[in-house]
Amino acid sequence: MGYERTDIEGMAGYVYGEQPDDPTVVKLNTNENPYPPSPAARQALHRFDADTLRRYPPATAEPLRRLVAERLGVSPEQVVVTNGGDEALRLAITTFVDPGATFGTTDPGYSLCPVLAGVLGCAIEAIPMTADWSVPGDFARRLNACGAKLACVVNPHAPSGTLVDAGTIAALAAELDGVLLVDEAYVDFVDPDRGHDLTALLADHDNVLLLRTLSKGYSLAGLRVGFLVGDAGLVEPVLTKTRDSYNVDAIAQALGAAAYADLDHARETWRAVRQERRRLVDELRARRFRVAASQANFVLAEVIGDHPAKAIFDGLRQRGIVVRHFDTPRLAESVRITVGTPAENDALLEALDAIFHQADTMRDHSTPGPP
Ligand SMILES: Cc1ncc(COP(=O)(O)O)c(C=O)c1O
Repeated sequence: MGYERTDIEGMAGYVYGEQPDDPTVVKLNTNENPYPPSPAARQALHRFDADTLRRYPPATAEPLRRLVAERLGVSPEQVVVTNGGDEALRLAITTFVDPGATFGTTDPGYSLCPVLAGVLGCAIEAIPMTADWSVPGDFARRLNACGAKLACVVNPHAPSGTLVDAGTIAALAAELDGVLLVDEAYVDFVDPDRGHDLTALLADHDNVLLLRTLSKGYSLAGLRVGFLVGDAGLVEPVLTKTRDSYNVDAIAQALGAAAYADLDHARETWRAVRQERRRLVDELRARRFRVAASQANFVLAEVIGDHPAKAIFDGLRQRGIVVRHFDTPRLAESVRITVGTPAENDALLEALDAIFHQADTMRDHSTPGPP
Protein backbone atom coordinates (compact mmCIF):
# COMPACT_ATOMS: atom_id res chain seq x y z
CA MET A 1 0.00 0.00 0.00
CA GLY A 2 1.37 3.43 -0.95
CA TYR A 3 0.79 6.69 0.85
CA GLU A 4 -1.42 8.30 -1.79
CA ARG A 5 -5.13 8.88 -1.33
CA THR A 6 -6.82 5.81 -2.82
CA ASP A 7 -8.70 7.84 -5.44
CA ILE A 8 -5.50 9.62 -6.49
CA GLU A 9 -3.77 6.24 -6.75
CA GLY A 10 -6.53 5.05 -9.07
CA MET A 11 -6.70 8.09 -11.35
CA ALA A 12 -4.72 9.01 -14.46
CA GLY A 13 -2.76 12.28 -14.60
CA TYR A 14 -2.74 14.97 -17.30
CA VAL A 15 -0.96 13.89 -20.48
CA TYR A 16 1.32 16.73 -21.62
CA GLY A 17 2.12 17.43 -25.22
CA GLU A 18 5.72 16.52 -26.04
CA GLN A 19 8.26 19.27 -25.26
CA PRO A 20 11.20 18.31 -27.50
CA ASP A 21 14.72 19.47 -26.52
CA ASP A 22 15.81 19.58 -30.16
CA PRO A 23 15.31 23.21 -31.34
CA THR A 24 15.03 22.09 -34.99
CA VAL A 25 11.81 20.19 -34.30
CA VAL A 26 8.78 22.01 -35.71
CA LYS A 27 6.55 22.17 -32.64
CA LEU A 28 2.88 22.40 -33.55
CA ASN A 29 1.45 20.39 -30.66
CA THR A 30 0.63 22.60 -27.66
CA ASN A 31 -1.00 25.68 -29.19
CA GLU A 32 1.73 28.11 -28.28
CA ASN A 33 1.98 31.42 -30.15
CA PRO A 34 4.60 31.01 -32.91
CA TYR A 35 5.79 34.62 -32.46
CA PRO A 36 7.88 36.03 -29.58
CA PRO A 37 6.36 38.07 -26.76
CA SER A 38 6.38 41.86 -26.71
CA PRO A 39 9.81 43.55 -26.59
CA ALA A 40 8.39 45.32 -23.53
CA ALA A 41 8.34 41.95 -21.70
CA ARG A 42 11.99 41.41 -22.63
CA GLN A 43 12.88 44.88 -21.31
CA ALA A 44 10.95 44.22 -18.09
CA LEU A 45 12.98 41.04 -17.65
CA HIS A 46 16.26 42.90 -18.14
CA ARG A 47 15.19 45.69 -15.79
CA PHE A 48 13.96 43.28 -13.13
CA ASP A 49 15.92 43.80 -9.91
CA ALA A 50 16.68 40.35 -8.45
CA ASP A 51 17.21 41.92 -5.01
CA THR A 52 13.47 42.58 -4.81
CA LEU A 53 12.86 38.81 -4.80
CA ARG A 54 13.70 38.93 -1.08
CA ARG A 55 10.19 40.25 -0.57
CA TYR A 56 6.82 38.67 -1.38
CA PRO A 57 5.14 39.93 -4.55
CA PRO A 58 1.99 42.11 -4.50
CA ALA A 59 -0.47 39.54 -3.11
CA THR A 60 -3.28 40.21 -5.57
CA ALA A 61 -1.06 41.29 -8.50
CA GLU A 62 -2.65 44.74 -8.19
CA PRO A 63 -0.94 46.57 -11.09
CA LEU A 64 -1.79 43.80 -13.57
CA ARG A 65 -5.26 43.37 -12.09
CA ARG A 66 -5.98 47.07 -12.67
CA LEU A 67 -4.66 46.92 -16.23
CA VAL A 68 -6.93 43.97 -17.02
CA ALA A 69 -9.96 45.63 -15.42
CA GLU A 70 -9.38 48.84 -17.36
CA ARG A 71 -8.96 47.02 -20.70
CA LEU A 72 -12.11 44.94 -20.18
CA GLY A 73 -14.21 47.79 -18.78
CA VAL A 74 -14.90 46.13 -15.42
CA SER A 75 -13.90 47.00 -11.85
CA PRO A 76 -10.72 45.47 -10.31
CA GLU A 77 -13.03 43.62 -7.85
CA GLN A 78 -14.21 41.59 -10.85
CA VAL A 79 -10.72 40.30 -11.70
CA VAL A 80 -8.46 37.75 -10.04
CA VAL A 81 -5.00 37.11 -11.51
CA THR A 82 -3.87 33.49 -11.49
CA ASN A 83 -0.88 31.27 -12.13
CA GLY A 84 -1.91 30.55 -15.72
CA GLY A 85 -5.34 29.52 -16.94
CA ASP A 86 -4.88 26.08 -15.42
CA GLU A 87 -4.84 27.53 -11.90
CA ALA A 88 -7.93 29.57 -12.77
CA LEU A 89 -9.74 26.35 -13.70
CA ARG A 90 -8.59 24.61 -10.53
CA LEU A 91 -9.73 27.59 -8.43
CA ALA A 92 -13.14 27.68 -10.09
CA ILE A 93 -13.74 24.00 -9.32
CA THR A 94 -12.35 24.34 -5.78
CA THR A 95 -14.53 27.37 -5.04
CA PHE A 96 -17.84 26.37 -6.63
CA VAL A 97 -18.10 22.56 -6.58
CA ASP A 98 -18.68 20.82 -3.24
CA PRO A 99 -16.58 17.68 -2.74
CA GLY A 100 -18.52 14.80 -4.29
CA ALA A 101 -20.80 17.13 -6.30
CA THR A 102 -20.85 17.33 -10.09
CA PHE A 103 -18.89 19.53 -12.42
CA GLY A 104 -20.10 19.72 -16.03
CA THR A 105 -18.22 20.10 -19.26
CA THR A 106 -18.33 19.06 -22.91
CA ASP A 107 -16.93 15.92 -24.49
CA PRO A 108 -14.42 16.51 -25.89
CA GLY A 109 -13.23 19.52 -23.97
CA TYR A 110 -10.08 20.58 -22.14
CA SER A 111 -8.41 17.33 -21.10
CA LEU A 112 -7.28 18.84 -17.78
CA CYS A 113 -10.93 18.98 -16.57
CA PRO A 114 -11.35 15.28 -15.72
CA VAL A 115 -7.95 15.30 -14.00
CA LEU A 116 -8.88 18.26 -11.80
CA ALA A 117 -12.26 16.71 -11.03
CA GLY A 118 -10.43 13.58 -9.86
CA VAL A 119 -7.92 15.52 -7.76
CA LEU A 120 -10.62 17.68 -6.16
CA GLY A 121 -12.89 14.72 -5.45
CA CYS A 122 -15.85 15.71 -7.58
CA ALA A 123 -17.78 13.89 -10.29
CA ILE A 124 -17.63 15.03 -13.90
CA GLU A 125 -20.52 15.00 -16.37
CA ALA A 126 -19.21 15.47 -19.91
CA ILE A 127 -21.97 16.22 -22.43
CA PRO A 128 -21.03 15.23 -26.02
CA MET A 129 -20.58 18.09 -28.50
CA THR A 130 -22.82 17.83 -31.58
CA ALA A 131 -21.53 16.42 -34.90
CA ASP A 132 -20.79 19.98 -36.11
CA TRP A 133 -18.92 20.85 -32.90
CA SER A 134 -21.63 22.96 -31.25
CA VAL A 135 -22.65 22.86 -27.61
CA PRO A 136 -25.83 20.73 -27.58
CA GLY A 137 -29.14 22.53 -27.00
CA ASP A 138 -29.88 20.47 -23.87
CA PHE A 139 -26.47 21.14 -22.24
CA ALA A 140 -27.82 23.33 -19.41
CA ARG A 141 -30.91 21.18 -18.83
CA ARG A 142 -28.85 18.02 -18.49
CA LEU A 143 -26.37 19.63 -16.12
CA ASN A 144 -29.16 21.13 -14.01
CA ALA A 145 -30.70 17.67 -13.81
CA CYS A 146 -27.54 16.27 -12.23
CA GLY A 147 -27.14 19.24 -9.90
CA ALA A 148 -23.95 20.59 -11.50
CA LYS A 149 -22.62 23.55 -9.54
CA LEU A 150 -20.21 24.56 -12.30
CA ALA A 151 -20.14 24.05 -16.06
CA CYS A 152 -17.11 24.71 -18.22
CA VAL A 153 -17.40 25.55 -21.92
CA VAL A 154 -14.20 26.13 -23.87
CA ASN A 155 -14.84 28.91 -26.40
CA PRO A 156 -13.31 28.88 -28.98
CA HIS A 157 -13.67 25.17 -28.38
CA ALA A 158 -10.69 22.89 -27.92
CA PRO A 159 -9.83 20.79 -29.81
CA SER A 160 -12.12 21.83 -32.73
CA GLY A 161 -11.54 25.61 -32.59
CA THR A 162 -15.23 26.37 -33.27
CA LEU A 163 -16.83 29.44 -31.68
CA VAL A 164 -20.15 29.71 -29.84
CA ASP A 165 -21.65 33.20 -30.18
CA ALA A 166 -22.45 35.55 -27.30
CA GLY A 167 -26.23 35.04 -27.63
CA THR A 168 -25.89 31.28 -27.16
CA ILE A 169 -23.58 31.76 -24.16
CA ALA A 170 -26.07 34.24 -22.62
CA ALA A 171 -28.92 31.74 -23.06
CA LEU A 172 -26.80 29.00 -21.46
CA ALA A 173 -25.95 31.23 -18.51
CA ALA A 174 -29.62 32.13 -18.04
CA GLU A 175 -30.66 28.48 -18.06
CA LEU A 176 -27.88 27.04 -15.89
CA ASP A 177 -28.50 26.79 -12.15
CA GLY A 178 -24.76 26.86 -11.41
CA VAL A 179 -21.77 28.92 -12.49
CA LEU A 180 -20.86 29.02 -16.19
CA LEU A 181 -17.10 29.15 -16.68
CA VAL A 182 -16.25 30.16 -20.24
CA ASP A 183 -12.67 29.12 -20.91
CA GLU A 184 -11.51 31.82 -23.35
CA ALA A 185 -7.90 30.65 -23.55
CA TYR A 186 -7.98 31.16 -27.35
CA VAL A 187 -10.34 34.12 -27.66
CA ASP A 188 -7.62 36.53 -28.82
CA PHE A 189 -7.44 34.70 -32.16
CA VAL A 190 -11.12 35.18 -33.06
CA ASP A 191 -11.67 37.18 -36.29
CA PRO A 192 -12.34 40.81 -35.23
CA ASP A 193 -15.13 41.03 -37.89
CA ARG A 194 -17.20 38.76 -35.67
CA GLY A 195 -17.35 41.42 -32.95
CA HIS A 196 -17.20 38.60 -30.42
CA ASP A 197 -17.04 39.92 -26.84
CA LEU A 198 -18.47 38.19 -23.79
CA THR A 199 -17.49 40.86 -21.24
CA ALA A 200 -20.79 42.65 -21.93
CA LEU A 201 -22.62 39.58 -20.56
CA LEU A 202 -21.11 40.06 -17.12
CA ALA A 203 -23.42 42.97 -16.28
CA ASP A 204 -26.53 40.79 -16.75
CA HIS A 205 -25.29 37.38 -15.60
CA ASP A 206 -23.89 37.06 -12.10
CA ASN A 207 -23.07 33.38 -12.73
CA VAL A 208 -20.62 33.89 -15.63
CA LEU A 209 -16.87 33.66 -15.18
CA LEU A 210 -14.46 34.21 -18.07
CA LEU A 211 -11.07 32.52 -18.05
CA ARG A 212 -8.26 34.23 -19.96
CA THR A 213 -4.54 33.54 -20.24
CA LEU A 214 -1.40 35.33 -21.44
CA SER A 215 0.00 31.93 -22.55
CA LYS A 216 -1.44 32.02 -26.07
CA GLY A 217 -2.41 35.52 -27.18
CA TYR A 218 0.58 37.18 -25.47
CA SER A 219 3.17 34.46 -26.25
CA LEU A 220 3.92 33.82 -22.57
CA ALA A 221 3.15 30.13 -21.98
CA GLY A 222 6.43 29.79 -20.09
CA LEU A 223 5.55 32.56 -17.63
CA ARG A 224 2.24 31.28 -16.19
CA VAL A 225 -0.21 34.18 -16.01
CA GLY A 226 -3.96 33.99 -16.45
CA PHE A 227 -7.03 35.54 -14.88
CA LEU A 228 -10.71 35.11 -14.12
CA VAL A 229 -13.23 37.88 -14.75
CA GLY A 230 -16.80 37.85 -13.49
CA ASP A 231 -19.24 39.24 -10.99
CA ALA A 232 -17.48 40.54 -7.86
CA GLY A 233 -19.51 38.03 -5.84
CA LEU A 234 -17.88 35.14 -7.76
CA VAL A 235 -14.39 36.63 -7.70
CA GLU A 236 -14.30 37.50 -3.99
CA PRO A 237 -14.15 33.93 -2.55
CA VAL A 238 -11.46 33.00 -5.08
CA LEU A 239 -9.42 36.07 -4.20
CA THR A 240 -9.79 35.87 -0.44
CA LYS A 241 -10.15 32.15 0.32
CA THR A 242 -9.23 29.50 -2.25
CA ARG A 243 -6.23 31.11 -3.95
CA ASP A 244 -2.70 30.52 -2.66
CA SER A 245 -1.51 33.52 -0.65
CA TYR A 246 0.98 34.70 -3.32
CA ASN A 247 -0.17 32.78 -6.37
CA VAL A 248 1.56 34.89 -9.04
CA ASP A 249 5.30 35.45 -8.62
CA ALA A 250 6.96 38.87 -8.93
CA ILE A 251 8.66 38.17 -12.27
CA ALA A 252 5.42 36.89 -13.80
CA GLN A 253 3.59 40.01 -12.59
CA ALA A 254 6.18 42.39 -14.03
CA LEU A 255 6.56 40.69 -17.40
CA GLY A 256 2.86 39.88 -17.66
CA ALA A 257 1.89 43.52 -17.10
CA ALA A 258 4.46 44.74 -19.66
CA ALA A 259 3.25 42.28 -22.31
CA TYR A 260 -0.44 42.88 -21.60
CA ALA A 261 0.05 46.66 -21.91
CA ASP A 262 1.60 46.25 -25.38
CA LEU A 263 -1.65 45.46 -27.15
CA ASP A 264 -0.31 46.54 -30.57
CA HIS A 265 2.39 43.87 -30.50
CA ALA A 266 -0.02 41.14 -29.38
CA ARG A 267 -2.59 42.19 -32.01
CA GLU A 268 0.00 41.90 -34.76
CA THR A 269 0.72 38.28 -33.73
CA TRP A 270 -3.05 37.53 -33.71
CA ARG A 271 -3.38 38.94 -37.22
CA ALA A 272 -0.44 36.88 -38.49
CA VAL A 273 -1.86 33.72 -36.88
CA ARG A 274 -5.30 34.32 -38.43
CA GLN A 275 -3.76 34.84 -41.86
CA GLU A 276 -1.83 31.56 -41.62
CA ARG A 277 -4.87 29.79 -40.14
CA ARG A 278 -6.85 30.60 -43.29
CA ARG A 279 -4.05 29.32 -45.52
CA LEU A 280 -3.53 26.17 -43.44
CA VAL A 281 -7.24 25.32 -43.46
CA ASP A 282 -7.41 25.74 -47.27
CA GLU A 283 -4.26 23.68 -47.81
CA LEU A 284 -5.40 20.89 -45.51
CA ARG A 285 -8.85 20.77 -47.12
CA ALA A 286 -7.14 20.51 -50.50
CA ARG A 287 -5.27 17.44 -49.22
CA ARG A 288 -7.24 14.71 -47.48
CA PHE A 289 -8.71 16.41 -44.45
CA ARG A 290 -12.03 17.68 -43.22
CA VAL A 291 -11.18 20.74 -41.09
CA ALA A 292 -13.52 22.34 -38.56
CA ALA A 293 -14.00 26.13 -38.88
CA SER A 294 -11.42 27.23 -36.33
CA GLN A 295 -11.35 30.59 -34.57
CA ALA A 296 -8.39 29.52 -32.42
CA ASN A 297 -4.65 29.23 -33.11
CA PHE A 298 -4.99 25.55 -34.01
CA VAL A 299 -7.03 23.43 -36.39
CA LEU A 300 -8.56 19.99 -36.01
CA ALA A 301 -7.94 18.02 -39.19
CA GLU A 302 -9.92 14.81 -39.66
CA VAL A 303 -8.54 12.39 -42.21
CA ILE A 304 -10.84 11.55 -45.10
CA GLY A 305 -10.08 8.09 -46.48
CA ASP A 306 -8.25 5.12 -45.12
CA HIS A 307 -4.99 6.67 -43.92
CA PRO A 308 -5.00 6.35 -40.10
CA ALA A 309 -4.47 9.65 -38.26
CA LYS A 310 -2.06 7.93 -35.87
CA ALA A 311 0.11 6.93 -38.85
CA ILE A 312 0.09 10.57 -40.01
CA PHE A 313 1.08 11.69 -36.51
CA ASP A 314 3.93 9.13 -36.47
CA GLY A 315 5.02 10.00 -40.01
CA LEU A 316 5.18 13.71 -39.11
CA ARG A 317 7.11 12.93 -35.92
CA GLN A 318 9.68 10.94 -37.94
CA ARG A 319 10.09 14.00 -40.17
CA GLY A 320 10.69 16.30 -37.17
CA ILE A 321 7.18 17.76 -36.89
CA VAL A 322 5.13 17.32 -33.73
CA VAL A 323 1.35 17.67 -33.77
CA ARG A 324 -1.21 16.23 -31.33
CA HIS A 325 -3.19 13.02 -31.61
CA PHE A 326 -5.84 12.06 -29.05
CA ASP A 327 -6.69 8.39 -28.82
CA THR A 328 -10.39 8.76 -28.03
CA PRO A 329 -13.31 7.47 -30.15
CA ARG A 330 -14.32 10.94 -31.41
CA LEU A 331 -10.78 12.15 -32.14
CA ALA A 332 -8.90 9.00 -33.14
CA GLU A 333 -9.04 9.86 -36.86
CA SER A 334 -7.96 13.49 -36.42
CA VAL A 335 -4.80 15.39 -35.68
CA ARG A 336 -4.77 18.77 -33.94
CA ILE A 337 -2.28 21.15 -35.48
CA THR A 338 -1.15 24.45 -33.96
CA VAL A 339 -0.89 27.26 -36.51
CA GLY A 340 2.83 27.97 -36.89
CA THR A 341 4.87 30.54 -38.79
CA PRO A 342 4.58 30.42 -42.61
CA ALA A 343 7.84 28.42 -42.76
CA GLU A 344 6.64 25.94 -40.11
CA ASN A 345 3.33 25.47 -41.90
CA ASP A 346 5.14 24.94 -45.20
CA ALA A 347 7.28 22.26 -43.55
CA LEU A 348 4.13 20.57 -42.25
CA LEU A 349 2.42 20.60 -45.65
CA GLU A 350 5.50 19.25 -47.41
CA ALA A 351 5.80 16.46 -44.86
CA LEU A 352 2.10 15.57 -45.31
CA ASP A 353 2.59 15.38 -49.07
CA ALA A 354 5.57 13.08 -48.57
CA ILE A 355 3.59 10.83 -46.20
CA PHE A 356 0.64 10.53 -48.59
CA HIS A 357 2.94 9.98 -51.56
CA GLN A 358 4.76 7.19 -49.74
CA ALA A 359 1.48 5.55 -48.71
CA ASP A 360 0.08 5.75 -52.27
CA THR A 361 3.27 4.28 -53.74
CA MET A 362 3.21 1.39 -51.29
CA ARG A 363 -0.45 0.72 -52.03
CA ASP A 364 0.14 0.77 -55.81
CA HIS A 365 2.95 -1.72 -55.44
CA SER A 366 0.91 -4.02 -53.24
CA THR A 367 -2.12 -4.00 -55.63
CA PRO A 368 -1.93 -7.13 -57.81
CA GLY A 369 -1.64 -6.26 -61.52
CA PRO A 370 -3.81 -7.79 -64.28
CA PRO A 371 -3.35 -11.53 -64.74
C1 LIG B 1 -8.64 24.94 -23.38
C2 LIG B 1 -7.54 25.44 -22.54
N1 LIG B 1 -7.83 26.11 -21.44
C3 LIG B 1 -6.88 26.60 -20.62
C4 LIG B 1 -5.56 26.39 -20.91
C5 LIG B 1 -4.60 26.91 -19.90
O1 LIG B 1 -3.47 27.49 -20.35
P1 LIG B 1 -2.43 28.11 -19.36
O2 LIG B 1 -2.47 27.36 -18.07
O3 LIG B 1 -1.14 27.99 -20.05
O4 LIG B 1 -2.85 29.53 -19.17
C6 LIG B 1 -5.19 25.67 -22.05
C7 LIG B 1 -3.78 25.39 -22.37
O5 LIG B 1 -3.42 24.72 -23.29
C8 LIG B 1 -6.22 25.18 -22.88
O6 LIG B 1 -5.95 24.49 -24.00
